[in-house]
Amino acid sequence: MSLELRHISSGYGTGAVLHDISLAVTPGEIVTLIGANGAGKSSLAKTVSGLLSPLSGEILWDGERIDRLSTTERLRRGIAHVPEGRQLFAGMTVAENLAMGATIRPGGRPAAGVLDEIHALFPILAPRMGDVAGNFSGGQQQMLAIARGLMSSPRLVILDEPSLGLAPKLVTEIFGLIATLRSRGISILLAEQNARAALSIADRGAVIENGRLVMAGPAAKLLDSPEIAERYLGVGVANTADLTASRLMAERLRACVWNDA
Ligand SMILES: Nc1ncnc2c1ncn2[C@@H]1O[C@H](COP(=O)(O)OP(=O)(O)O)[C@@H](O)[C@H]1O
Ligand SMILES: [Mg+2]
Repeated sequence: MSLELRHISSGYGTGAVLHDISLAVTPGEIVTLIGANGAGKSSLAKTVSGLLSPLSGEILWDGERIDRLSTTERLRRGIAHVPEGRQLFAGMTVAENLAMGATIRPGGRPAAGVLDEIHALFPILAPRMGDVAGNFSGGQQQMLAIARGLMSSPRLVILDEPSLGLAPKLVTEIFGLIATLRSRGISILLAEQNARAALSIADRGAVIENGRLVMAGPAAKLLDSPEIAERYLGVGVANTADLTASRLMAERLRACVWNDA
């Protein structure tokens, strides 16, 4: 299932904050949106999931126009959004938060095996299913938010700033997990201020400045670009050892979790 944005302009009320964005995400690909605070990454994420309606342009999913569909309809078609700031139900338990991710499924239940996969991917969750989510650390909450997003068996997961506010070790873990999701054939649209870490696991990257797409291309090329380095690579994890650790962790998880695949 491919996602295609064609000349999307979008915003709040009548004012556009995104202008003429064209972008594609193909199956099993990680595409990262990088850009400064306020550039429009979250607005683009919301436009894809349906929280914002485009002012003009088209969004196609597997060739079908989805830009006028509700978030629920898009979720039914396989597009899940893990929003910025996690947006968990803080007073609810881990199990209840996870259940909220499966409400669009028949009977409100996840597909067979999904819960087992989630527990294998996020071992911290199983022993804490009855604990209240609000008591979790930032990293644990991010894990839970991603896990909740997986409960509907999505084909595309939009992750908005999953590493924001996390300690470097947890950033490594989260990016390792994202790479693991791709190895399962899930496409990822990843909005990140931590450009170096995001580009290091992504296949392709797109740079947004003031609501416009100013550069796009293979992630490795963007990582090597002096322009990108100067403007965006000073932020976040700047440590090659950490990034190598992310990749190794992804390899390990792939080997131990998905050996049934
Ligand atoms: N709820 C909102 N209402 C009005 N303007 C908003 C709202 N959220 C974001 N914006 C504006 O949209 C622009 C893009 O913001 P955003 O998409 O959140 O950027 P990013 O995620 O890259 O930090 C900014 O100018 C911001 O002020
Ligand atoms: Mg944002």
